[in-house]
Amino acid sequence: MANRISERFFDKGHDFDLYHKERQILSRVVKKTEFEVEKEIFRGKVYDDKKVGSILYKGSYKGRDAVLKIQGLQVDIDEIEIIRKFEAQNKSKIIHAPKIFVHKRWDKKAGYGFTISEYSTAVPIFKRPFASAAQTKEFGRFYQEYRTKAVTKDFLERPKGDTLAGSLAKVDYWRKLCENKGILKLEDYAPYLMRYYPLAAKHLPTIPITMSHNHITPEDVLRNKDGSFVLMSNLFWGHSYQYNELAMNVWHCWMAIRDTSYTYEQLLKYVKGWIAAYKRIPIVKADKDFDRKFAMQMLNRSIGTILADLGGANGYFWGKMENRKYLFHLLHLEQKLFDHFAEQLGEKR
Ligand SMILES: Nc1ncnc2c1ncn2[C@@H]1O[C@H](COP(=O)(O)OP(=O)(O)OP(=O)(O)O)[C@@H](O)[C@H]1O
Ligand SMILES: [Mg+2]
Repeated sequence: MANRISERFFDKGHDFDLYHKERQILSRVVKKTEFEVEKEIFRGKVYDDKKVGSILYKGSYKGRDAVLKIQGLQVDIDEIEIIRKFEAQNKSKIIHAPKIFVHKRWDKKAGYGFTISEYSTAVPIFKRPFASAAQTKEFGRFYQEYRTKAVTKDFLERPKGDTLAGSLAKVDYWRKLCENKGILKLEDYAPYLMRYYPLAAKHLPTIPITMSHNHITPEDVLRNKDGSFVLMSNLFWGHSYQYNELAMNVWHCWMAIRDTSYTYEQLLKYVKGWIAAYKRIPIVKADKDFDRKFAMQMLNRSIGTILADLGGANGYFWGKMENRKYLFHLLHLEQKLFDHFAEQLGEKR
C-alpha cells in the first residue's frame, strides 16, 4: 500500500478545502498546539493554484525552530507512520527524514491532518535544471547510501497484481489527460505511444520492483553542510521499478528548462553526463543490466512528459498560453530523447 498523491490531485471529485478554509484551519491548529507561525514556506499543489494539498509554515514550537505542515489532501497512510516505518529499518547515519514533534492523523471529518517537525537548514542537493559534475557525483554518493543503507527492506506492503497492467493503465490515464486538453496534435504523441507499448511489454516484466522513495528530486534531497541528508516528500514512499528514482531526478531537471535555444544535442550530452555519473555508483556498477533497465525508466519518463506534463498541461506554468513556446520546445526535445532510448532498447524502425 502507498499513498496516491498525484492521482488525488487529478481526481475531480476531491475537495480542496485547504484552499478555502486556510485561515480557519491554521488558527484551529495553532490554538491546539501553540505553534508560533513566522511565515509560509511551501504550498503543495499540482498545476493548479486552487488545488492546494498542503501548506507548510516555518515558526517555532516550544522554543525550537519548527515546521508546521497542514495536510489537506487525503492520505492513505499518514506521514508519521511512513517515517516511523522508514526510520525503524534505516541503517544510514547520514540520511534521515525530518524529526516529527507532534502529529495529528488525517481525518475525513476535519478534512486535514498535521505534523510539526524539526526545522531543517539543509538545502537542495543542486539547483535545477543543471547540476555540475561535482553535484552529479554528490548525488551518486547519496544514492549509494540510500540504496544500501537507508532502504534495507520492504517497509510498506508490496502492490498486488500485475505491475505491467498497472503501468500501462497509468500511461493510458496520461493519454486521456492529453486528449482532454487538446494542446497536442495526434501526430505529436500517438506514434510515440504506439512505439512505447511493445517496448514496455517486452522490458518492464523483467525489471525488479523495489521499495523506493518515489519523489527523489533535487528539492526533496536536502543536504546539510556536514554532508548528511534530509529526505522530504515522505508521503511518496512506495514501490517502483528499479532505478526509477535515477530517471526521476533527470526528468525533474529537464522539466525546468526554460531556454528555447537549448538544443537536443545539449540535452543528450547532459543526460549522458548523468548516466556516466550513475555508472560510477558502486551499486549501479555491479549491475550488468543497468543500461537496459535505466533506458526503460527514461522511456517511461519521456512518454510521461509528452502525454501528461506537456500534453496534459495545466495551471501555473505549462498551462499558460505565454509559455507555449517552452512547451513545444521541450516536446521536440523529448520526442528525440524518446527515439534515443527506444533505439537503445532494441526498437527496429
Ligand atoms: N522540517 C523541515 N525543515 C525545513 N524545510 C522543510 C521541512 N519540511 C518541509 N520543508 C520544506 O517544504 C518542502 C515541502 O515539504 P514536503 O515535501 O514534506 O511537503 P509536501 O510536498 O506537501 O508533501 P509530500 O511531497 O510528501 O506530498 C520541502 O521540500 C522543504 O523545502
Ligand atoms: Mg513534497
